Amino acid sequence: MKVVGYVNSYKTHKDDRFLEIKSQKEKISEFCQKHNLELVKIYEETINNADFPPVLTRLINDAANKNFEHIVVLKIDILAKDNLTKTWVTSELNRHNIRIYSIAEFNASKPSTASISESKLVKYKVKDIPSLPEVVTKVMELVQNPNSSAAQLSKVISHDTGLTSRVLKLVNSAYYGFPKQISSIQHAIMILGFTTIRGLVLSSTIFKIFAPKNDRVKVLDYKRLWKHSLITAIAAKRINKFLRLQEDDDIFSSAILHDIGKIILDQYDHENYISALQEAPHPMDNRMMFAEKRYCGINHQDLGYLVAEEWNLPPGLINVIHYHHYPLEALEHTRLTSIVYVGNIIAHIALDFDNFDIGLFDERVLEYLSLDEDNLCQINSEVMLEIENIEDLESFLR
Ligand SMILES: [Fe+2]
Ligand SMILES: [Fe+2]
Repeated sequence: MKVVGYVNSYKTHKDDRFLEIKSQKEKISEFCQKHNLELVKIYEETINNADFPPVLTRLINDAANKNFEHIVVLKIDILAKDNLTKTWVTSELNRHNIRIYSIAEFNASKPSTASISESKLVKYKVKDIPSLPEVVTKVMELVQNPNSSAAQLSKVISHDTGLTSRVLKLVNSAYYGFPKQISSIQHAIMILGFTTIRGLVLSSTIFKIFAPKNDRVKVLDYKRLWKHSLITAIAAKRINKFLRLQEDDDIFSSAILHDIGKIILDQYDHENYISALQEAPHPMDNRMMFAEKRYCGINHQDLGYLVAEEWNLPPGLINVIHYHHYPLEALEHTRLTSIVYVGNIIAHIALDFDNFDIGLFDERVLEYLSLDEDNLCQINSEVMLEIENIEDLESFLR
């Protein structure tokens, strides 16, 4: 597979520029060698602070001529100095079906499990959780592998007709709001990119694996939890847009799956979970996490995290699942986790409260995201309007 590298050092001091460029080039070469990628050229930016860097503009023109299939950079920030340029670059490259490999993100280490008490009980429960269906693990492998193509990914997904229709339903829903119908997975991949498609596959499949069991005493309201997850995703997307950030590919799937630990507690430790919910029935109550720990030996954040690790989910999802109630504790993907944290509270306001209340939010997280009360009120009202037509999305998770 033919790839090109791109190096830039706009943040580097002038005197260190030569060394910085050299080190970026070496890391790109090593990465390509390790992953059997044919490195045909490394583009080196010469004017390092321009709005539309000239070498990058040339690279995008070359992409249109299909001289290569992927771009390798040391980290995503290197491609653009601000979000506007980043959006321009990524949408242009997406248009030509060129993927970007960021070495830093590729190598990002997963959080350690050491911080969680791994009692026999927890280990036993996690081992009991079903593994992901083959189609999903295959999709994750393909997305992770720099050599895979859109055709390969589309072939694997299209093989599963149920999955295909669920993914297309979401792609064509109001959430994405595309003006024209997208009728094939290949087309969806070209528009949304590999990582987003992986998120859609994961979200729809994981909810399906844990469909509610009928013979149980109902204590966890699944329909309400689905709705909560969808509203969290809508709110997270709104917050991202409000902050004028480039959309994170993991935003939908991490918001949808943030509370997956609750479903697992309900299905694999049902009796104890009933006791926990009876003690702390309100979902925004901090006592709920303590009650889960007391009765089930683990709270839904930590159990969700262990299962997410077991399933090898992408790092963005693992962090959100693990830290969505305390996002500033996440060492990686802190911004994504904080956005889902705020989205989660907005979703609770929509379903569980009568009015907007700023006191529900941790002010340190709001400060981290630079959001104030007026901003949140505005986002909250936008979300309330958007969720009036949530039905087309709900069928995606059923
Ligand atoms: Fe939660
Ligand atoms: Fe939640």
